[in-house]
Amino acid sequence: MKDIRQIINEALEKVKNADVSTLENIKVEYLGKSGVLTQILKSLFSYSIDDKKRIGSEANNAKSVIETEIENKKENLKKSLLDEKMRKEKLDNSKSFYFPFSNGSFHPVIQTIQDITAVFKSLGFAVAEGPEIETDWYNFEALNIPDNHPARDTQDTFYIEGMKALLRTHTSPGQIHVMEKHKPPIKVIVPGKVYRNEASDATHFSTFHQVEGLAVDENITFVDLKAVLSDFVHKFFGSDINIRFRPSHFQFTEPSAEVDMQCIFCKGKGCRLCKSSGWIEILGCGMVHPNVLKAVHYDSGKYTGYAFGLGVERIAMFKYGIDDIRLFYENDLRFLKQF
Ligand code: DAH
Repeated sequence: MKDIRQIINEALEKVKNADVSTLENIKVEYLGKSGVLTQILKSLFSYSIDDKKRIGSEANNAKSVIETEIENKKENLKKSLLDEKMRKEKLDNSKSFYFPFSNGSFHPVIQTIQDITAVFKSLGFAVAEGPEIETDWYNFEALNIPDNHPARDTQDTFYIEGMKALLRTHTSPGQIHVMEKHKPPIKVIVPGKVYRNEASDATHFSTFHQVEGLAVDENITFVDLKAVLSDFVHKFFGSDINIRFRPSHFQFTEPSAEVDMQCIFCKGKGCRLCKSSGWIEILGCGMVHPNVLKAVHYDSGKYTGYAFGLGVERIAMFKYGIDDIRLFYENDLRFLKQF
């Protein structure tokens, strides 16, 4: 008994003089797995029943006394540290000071979207946004991609469990939202983030960005589409850059095409960036399919339109000479600071 009282006194004395780091050591020394009091409790089996009760309850009592003191001391230390901090770090607003951090900047993908948007605005396009979580109707059905159609295989999709919803695989559903809300004439771009259930490599990532374009009115023809896209490329990359159209297939356009532009680095001669071909594919496009117009209750006998979908990362990679799409998403400051 005398020993236990002594232990308490000794411990409390130590606690009184402790600082934040020694406090933990004291806790271990008395209350830890092989601490002084724990040892006493462990050795009780060799005593008589009466002694066990007496010593056991004294030791447990000692434990809680010491523990409480340690907690109190901890609180006090915290409080006085804070007080001291408040005193020391008080700002003197009368002094001017040098701010040693550099300003942040826009992410290269965001910058590229802003640049693309500025060019299309100058060509008379409005800007709209659509949701990243879509229903099957907006992402597929309304775009003339019915259930079980093989075209669904080209856009492997993230479905949202327990809901009839998915992460949009392209910005094309933005076309449907715009047409549902507005009557022709329409001339709009829809920039945004899209998702594909894909393994990533140097040119693929499960999240990327597109800029969708749509124009609907009476008498819109493929010539309007060609003019707008070549204007865009000339304004964005330079008037000496040619583009070419290759026939292609998309469910929501007919006819459909893919557009290549001349490599800005070798001007079409062939280099590392264009993989020696002289050309870079930048977008898909075409004349809006009558079924898409019908899906939004437009008169497909009266109105025609064109649409296009541009890959933002592709354009950014090409513009800045970046050879791995994953660099955009690693948030390495050494990379980001270059923009
Ligand atoms: N949505 C297509 C994709 O993600 C791109 C696209 C192609 C958009 C043709 C269009 C278009 O609007 O007309 O692959």
